Formats: sequence, C-alpha cells, structure tokens
Amino acid sequence: MKGLHFALPVITLLLAAACGRDGGTTATNELKSPDGSLQLRFCLLDGGAPAYTLERNGETVVDLSRLGFDLTDGKSLKDGFHVTGVDYDSLDETWHPVWGEESEIRNHYNEMSVTLEQGSGEAKAPQNGVGATDPGYTGDPGNASGKGAVMRLRFRLYDDGLALRYEFPQDNKLRYFNIKEELTEFAMTADHTAWWISGDYDTQEYNYTCSRLSEIRAHSKSMRLGNASATGFSDTGVQTALQLKTDDGLYINIHEAAVVNYPTANLDLDDRSMTFRIHLTPDAEGVKGRMQAPCVTPWRTVMVVDDARKVLASRLILNLNEPCALDDVSWIHPVKYMGVWWEMITGKTQWSYTWDVPSVQLGVTDYRALKPHGQHGANNENVRRYIDFAAANGFDALLIEGWNEGWEDWFGCQKDYVFDFVTPYPDFDLPALNEYAHKKGIRLVMHHETSSSTMNYERHMEAAYQLMNRYGYDAVKSGYVGNIIPYGEHHYSQPLINHYLYAIKEAAKHHIMVNAHEAVRPTGLCRTWPNLIGNESAMGTEYRAGINPGHSCILPFTRLQGGPMDYTPGIFETDMSVTAPGQHGKMRHTICNQLGLYVTFYSPLQMAADLPENYARFPDAFQFIKDVAVDWEKSLYLEAEPGKLIVTARKPRLETLNSGRLNGKSGAYEYVFKDGKAHDVWYVGGVCGEEAQEVTVRLDFLDPALRYEAVLYADAPDADYETAPQAYTVTPITLISSDTLKIRMARSGGFALSLRSL
Ligand code: NOJ
Ligand code: CA
Repeated sequence: MKGLHFALPVITLLLAAACGRDGGTTATNELKSPDGSLQLRFCLLDGGAPAYTLERNGETVVDLSRLGFDLTDGKSLKDGFHVTGVDYDSLDETWHPVWGEESEIRNHYNEMSVTLEQGSGEAKAPQNGVGATDPGYTGDPGNASGKGAVMRLRFRLYDDGLALRYEFPQDNKLRYFNIKEELTEFAMTADHTAWWISGDYDTQEYNYTCSRLSEIRAHSKSMRLGNASATGFSDTGVQTALQLKTDDGLYINIHEAAVVNYPTANLDLDDRSMTFRIHLTPDAEGVKGRMQAPCVTPWRTVMVVDDARKVLASRLILNLNEPCALDDVSWIHPVKYMGVWWEMITGKTQWSYTWDVPSVQLGVTDYRALKPHGQHGANNENVRRYIDFAAANGFDALLIEGWNEGWEDWFGCQKDYVFDFVTPYPDFDLPALNEYAHKKGIRLVMHHETSSSTMNYERHMEAAYQLMNRYGYDAVKSGYVGNIIPYGEHHYSQPLINHYLYAIKEAAKHHIMVNAHEAVRPTGLCRTWPNLIGNESAMGTEYRAGINPGHSCILPFTRLQGGPMDYTPGIFETDMSVTAPGQHGKMRHTICNQLGLYVTFYSPLQMAADLPENYARFPDAFQFIKDVAVDWEKSLYLEAEPGKLIVTARKPRLETLNSGRLNGKSGAYEYVFKDGKAHDVWYVGGVCGEEAQEVTVRLDFLDPALRYEAVLYADAPDADYETAPQAYTVTPITLISSDTLKIRMARSGGFALSLRSL
C-alpha cells in the first residue's frame, strides 16, 4: 500500500509533463493501443483547453495539439472546460464486407471517452424557450439538468492509428450551434516528407507533389491547374488523406472517416511550428457546420506505421464507419465494365448531338427538328458494337455517356436546368438497347451528369431512378462537373455532403449502385452503404497526358484510403492522335503499367477504358484484363513506397464469382472455374513511378502442395513510357510456391501475373 501512495504522484507528474508542455495541465488521461505501441495522452491545459499528444513506442508522433471549435456567434468550445467523466471501452470483432480487399476485417481498438463541460454548469432556467436571442447557445428547454455546454471527446487507438471525434449529447446547453472553424490540430515533430495535393473546397483532381512540409508554400500556387471548379484557400492548405514520412521511416497518414452531415476537412499547415489545423469547407453563408445536438463530428484519423505496406493493409477508415445499413445486399455486385466514353474524352466523338443551335432548353428544344452533327458517340449502331465487344470478352456491363438530351449546354454556363435524366437523344433507343444488351448478358450502366446542379438532380432523381428500374439498369455513374448550384455552395460543403448521401440512400431504395465522379473524396461510407461501389474524386485517366508518372503509386496511400476509385484504367494506346485523329498528347505509362493497375487499385468497379479497336490490336495483353477478378478473398502488399512502386497479390473471392451476382459469365469466372472446376487463383500486379524498378517477387503465398500455370505480362527490355510504351512480353510459365521471380518494370511501367493451379 505504501508503494502505491508513492507511485501515483510520480505517474501524474510524468503525464503532465508530456501533455502540458506549453503550460500546466488540470487533468490528464491516457490510452494505449491493444498491442501497447501507441499511446494517447489527453489533457486540459491551464484555462481548461483540451489537447492531446500521440506517441509510438515512446517517441512523439503528434506533439501537443489543441482541440475544439470557434462558433459563429463569437463563442467557442476551446477552453473553459472541466472533465466530468472518463470512460474506457474496447472492441475486438471481425466483420464481413459485402465486397472488398478481403472477406474478413478485424476491428480491434481500445477506446476512451472524456466528457467535458464548459463553465460552472449553471445554465439559466429556460422560460418556455422564450427570450432565446442566441439560438445556438442559450438555455435549452430540454436541458432540465441546467448543464453547461457539454462536449465529449471519443478517442480510439488501433495498433495502426488514432481516431478521435467530438460528440455533443442531448443533455446539453448546446442545442443548435454553428461552427466558425474546427480547431483540431496535428502538431508534427519535424519537417517531414509529404505527398500532398493543394487544399481545395471543390476538387481533388490534382497531381501530387512530394516535398518537405516546409516546401508546400512554394509549390502550392503552381499546383492549381485549370480545373473545372477549383477553390483554394491557403498556400499551405493540403487535402487528406495526407501521406507523410518521417526521416526515421515512420509513415503517418492523416485523414477523416465517416463524414456525414458535416463539411469536408482540409488541413492548413503552420509551417513555422509544423502544425496542421483542420480547415473546414464553408457553405454559401460561410458556416462550417450547422449542428443540432445530439450529434457527432466525423472521425479525425492519424495512422502511424513503420512500413509503407502497412498503410495499404490498414482498414482504419472502414472500421470507423457504421456497419452495413442494408438488410438485403443480394442486388449489390462487383462490376467489370467497358464504356462508350473514352471516345468522348479523347475528342473522337461527342457527348452532344447537334451544333445547330447556340443553346438548348429541355422540353422546348425539338431535337428531332435539328440537324445531327454526325459525331454523336451514343448512337444505336455504335452502342451495339460496344455491347457485342463487351459480351464477347466476358465483361459485365457497359457505360454509355451522352445518351440524354442537354449536352449541347452542359458545361461552362452554370445553368440550373441542363438535364432531365430521362429523355434520350433521337438516335439512342433506350428500351431496344437494354434489351439487346440483356440478351447478351450485359447490363447498361446509366450516366447522370448533374452539371453540379444538385437542385435539378434532386427534383428529377425519383423519375430518373424509376426509369432505370423500368429498363433494368442497376448502376449509375453520376458526375458533378462545374460550380455547384445552389449558387455559392462547394463540392465539399455540408449541404453537398448531405446531397451525395441522399443520392446513395435513394438509389439503395431502388436497388441501384452508385459511382459518383467529382463528388467528395470518400471516407469509408461504403461500409455502411455498399451500393456506393465507386467514386472518382482524384485525378483519373481522363486527364490523359496531364497525369504524372508515379501518380498511380501515390493514390493507394491517399485517395484510396477512403474507398474504391473509378480510375478507369486500361489505356493501351497512349498516343491520343492515334485514338482520335486530329488530337494530340501522349499519356505517360506503359501497357504493363495499365495491367498492373487492375491489381494495385482496389475497386469492385473496374473499367477497361480504352476503345475496342485499341484492345483488338493487343489481344494477348488484353487477356489479363479479361481474366482479372475485381473482388477479393485476400490481399497481400508485397512491396510499397509512395511514388516509387507498389506490388500487390490478390486472391479472388470465389463466393462472389459463384453467387450469380455478376451479370453475365464474367471473364474472371471463366478463368477461375476452368473446365467447371474451381482452381486456386492469384493475380499479382506491380506499378512504378518515374524511375524503372527491378523487383523480386517471392511466391510463398501460393499453396505449397500445388503447381500453377501462370502468365507473366512484363515490360519488354526496351519498354519506356516515352519511347516504347507498347513494348511488352507475355510469357506462359509453370510456378510453385518456392519460386521467386525477378521482374523489371520500365519507367512508369509495371507488370501483371495471373496464376491458376493445375
Ligand atoms: C467528368 C467525369 O470524370 C468523366 O468521367 C465524365 O465523362 C465527364 N465528367 C462527363 O460527365
Ligand atoms: Ca472527373
């Protein structure tokens, strides 16, 4: 007993020193991750200001960082607090995603929630709610206990990272309150290396820069290209997921999870103290979050691991989202698709139908009376050609863009009513094409370009989804190009966050899967709403020659942390003048780089984006795209370094392939179930950046009792993204688990390997 009396004050002093560097602390609480490697310390600084630190194996990763909010009414939730309760909890569960990188995910954490109350706790007795001149911060008729402002901080420590969020319980002086800024900080301990894109309220479609934190300011301005809608806010603003590396080899990844009814967070860096602070996206009136207790904020996450492969293997973001909200998920399925799309992106054909009029008005413009310009891509004959090709090559689906009236006017005029999402152009026979496709085992993928008028989309959404149900479309690609209507809103502001989720929920009622482009970058909501099978939300293939070598080795560390990306890979013809005569520009990758992407980028929705005629020129390389699966039992990350290289091995999920949930007999089904027998199958893919790489792939993940017939798709010795992007070799080979392969990836190159047990 005597020893214990001595020990307690000593421990308290140590904790206070760690969490109270810039002043005294009035309370300190700590939490450890399940394996003890991560340690969080929470404290109230003098004046009752909440703050925290994070350590890994005794080394500080996040230095003293403040927490809280400024409110629009001039008040704040950043100091004046005292602790009224501390609770601990833990969870170790395994859950099964509807689709994913593996069929089982472990969710294992220790949790601490600290309840804080501001002021003395003496709220004025409410008088029937009358006299509430400040609705955000006055006596609450429901607050019978007379509590002050109550804010709970919930911390979760996983072995690979920290999550924290703010909660505002019902029994609270706070009822309605508006956020001026969230003040959550992440104080870095040094001038780390960062892979970052510029902070923005509207777009993530940027190339990444790799630099020291201190160099962000110098590079930031030049990063903002001529994007359709871009709103920067600071020369030191960056977006999440932000990948950092310390000089000691720790990989820190800052992101957010479960962004619901709250604006998206950017990070703003104070580049003297190397401290990031949350910078929320304002709505049209400048408010950064309209809150009503009870409510919670999204999770703020800091992943910390000692190996880049562990970043790719982390399921932190998914684990922090709520479990699946749908009882019946039998209608949700992975999709491998082609599209009448690349021909419009490259300028070979057009989305529009006519150039006869300077502008169009739906319901007024009579398209049948107008002269077609003859370059409309979504015409019956062309669509049938794609359906035939997609069916013959084992795809599930075909996207068709530019099928509906309005494209003459879709871009640049910020017009409210551009599309009605139900009226096809005169040369697109919607019922007949669906029937033709279904007979061949192909589903058509609907396209809803909203032109960023969410008001217009919401007023037509029900009819648009009903049309899809009537004709058997079960997936929609939506898009949000241009500035948002309602005017003044941003792609990342709270009303837009709510719109994207509304579209997903309404789609679920109609058993429709959603792939949203230009919507906010994902934060793991696909766990709760697995009909969200894809997002773009980054610079994807549509940027063609604008994409930097190495981009594909960064996205899995950043954008893909929140959920799958519709990157639209598979471009074999890198010279745009070949695909679309009269156009110019050369994409900077090899064919094998594109093959490697099918294994590198996880997505249950994978496109073979190039034109049928380009695939027909390279049938042996195209074979890999036909064979590869898109939903996985297991994923292994064999090599990884941001911007440099990634090598991934994945084993397909037989349950999905066998469930009949795919539309037709997909190519992967044919590959795995050769001769009607299920084989042990793996796919391995590699991609690299600006520098060529040689990798040694050990096959010790294969079943040692089996022999495998394999096909290696590799960059030819002379392959190079600039001089010989189409130089590759295809080598059939027999392999066993004790084999190793030495594979060279050219500059911006890659490789693919399919393995099937004999
Ligand atoms: C941008 C999307 O990312 C692209 O895929 C689409 O084709 C165009 N918008 C038109 O909607
Ligand atoms: Ca886009």
